[in-house]
Amino acid sequence: MIGNGSVGSAYVFAMVQQGLAEEFVIVTRHKERAVGDALDLEDATPFTSPTKIYAGEYSDCKDADLVVITAGAPQKPGETRLDLVNKNLRILATIVKPIVVSGFTGIFLVASNPVDILAYATQKLSGFPKSRVIGSGTSLDTGRFQVAIADKFNLAPESVHAYVLGEHGDSEFADLDEATIGNVPLLDYAAKRGVSKEDLLELEDKTRNKAYSIINKKGATFYGVASALMRISRAILRNENAVLAIGAPIEGQYGLDDLYLGTPAVINAQGIASVIEIPLSQNGINQMQASAKEIIKDSIE
Ligand code: 2OP
Repeated sequence: MIGNGSVGSAYVFAMVQQGLAEEFVIVTRHKERAVGDALDLEDATPFTSPTKIYAGEYSDCKDADLVVITAGAPQKPGETRLDLVNKNLRILATIVKPIVVSGFTGIFLVASNPVDILAYATQKLSGFPKSRVIGSGTSLDTGRFQVAIADKFNLAPESVHAYVLGEHGDSEFADLDEATIGNVPLLDYAAKRGVSKEDLLELEDKTRNKAYSIINKKGATFYGVASALMRISRAILRNENAVLAIGAPIEGQYGLDDLYLGTPAVINAQGIASVIEIPLSQNGINQMQASAKEIIKDSIE
């Protein structure tokens, strides 16, 4: 685990709760904090599952199955994720190289923002096959939308089959047209219960802005993203072949190429087994392409 801020700590905590890893090494410039966190986290293991947790070095990545990157400046109130691009690309460049030099041959899971650009850069900087570099993408946003829809209809969030696609950021969108609940199209399910498409679009907007509202209230978001990272990690470490929303390398899907974007993909021990292209309506394709434009614009600037 690279970076030991609130997201990194919460992620290791979530992993320990689930008993998903034998050993964790926390790598950060703030060594003293990492040592403290490792000691604190190991105190959770008698009550959860045996896990060894150390503060370590990049060289420890050598035989890791998974490297999770959470390092970087977090969003402050008033900042967008894209505002972090230059700062966090500089930090990323100092991280990826020593990991590759360590002899690491596992899977990168990138969570630092703006995550679509940083996942793309991790793949370029590492020279790893695209299937072995995963972005957290719209995993959290998809979860947030599931929560919003679930609240509306009094359902369990996992029973809502709906994806948020595109940038993990202000241009993301919920794929309302293809979303379902119990195989019933979401729009029909909602209409039957007196909920209009406009109402659903309000939930989409709430989802898009949820990070801002959390950051304004408590300064940061971490439990949600940590749990999304745990879910992706579980699919990798248990070779699940699970279909999850992630930040995936786009190669021709949605009429786009050569970038990372939020879309469903099949995740297993090899990383991204395949990227699933949702057959979007023309409106969805337009939204996806507009989202891609935002990312590309900011990577070039
Ligand atoms: C989130 O969406 C800030 O990207 C972070 O919670």
